[in-house]
Amino acid sequence: MSNVKKLTVSSFRKMKERGEKIAVLTAYDAPTAALADACGVEMLLVGDSVANAVLGYCNTLPLTLAESLHHCAAVRRGAPEAFVIGDMPFMTYQADINDALTNAARYLKEVGANAVKLEGGAAIAPVVERMTASGIPVMGHIGLLPQKLLTSGGYRIAGKTEKEADALIKDAKQLEAAGAFCIVLECIPAEVSRQITAAVSIPTIGIGAGEYCDGQVQVVTDILGLSGDFIPKHAKRYANLHEAIQKAFTQYVKDVKKAKFPGRENSF
Ligand code: KIV
Repeated sequence: MSNVKKLTVSSFRKMKERGEKIAVLTAYDAPTAALADACGVEMLLVGDSVANAVLGYCNTLPLTLAESLHHCAAVRRGAPEAFVIGDMPFMTYQADINDALTNAARYLKEVGANAVKLEGGAAIAPVVERMTASGIPVMGHIGLLPQKLLTSGGYRIAGKTEKEADALIKDAKQLEAAGAFCIVLECIPAEVSRQITAAVSIPTIGIGAGEYCDGQVQVVTDILGLSGDFIPKHAKRYANLHEAIQKAFTQYVKDVKKAKFPGRENSF
């Protein structure tokens, strides 16, 4: 059963008004997207985290627009009715506003995404404004910004000082004014997220941002236990697929070596 009622940007704002939490997961492929949608996940984010979670890059910076669109298309095929967001890769929206628009439109026109996500606060608001004015729904993203890894000197919690917290609240307000339909808050102290959530009327979607956000997003490979031994503090493991897959592969190899597979039931 997919999300029976087709969700739109206004559905999410109404959910915030009702105090109903929004469940968001990343998805990178068709079968996972189908399962997440069937289980009631309300937004599927084709995160640029596909770069490190799936494609073997060591961070999100090398991801290309073509790679991101390719995964977005797979997610859309797996979950035709879901609310799908394409996460625009590093340098596909920062250099030139017209290129940013053209690139964003490809997510809607070519792969049927419902929205795009951009990292950044006030600095990116003019781009968000042009996109939303052109009819492209935008999810904002503030706090820890993985695409700024090289200038920030590492993955750091954002908003720890009063000055930083105030700047984040201003960023959120500017994104709302620019037309963003929701904002990801990444790795921000819970109390600061509470203030941001209260300051805007669009939903905040937290990852490592505490319980006061209007919704939560997690990287699917983290919650399924597919990202090896490292578990980010903000993630909860709901399954250990790493171990399950390891057992299955080991057993398969044993069966082939001992000619236990294929059995009669697998033969023609
Ligand atoms: O790429 C991603 O998975 C993200 C989430 C962490 C929000 O941006």
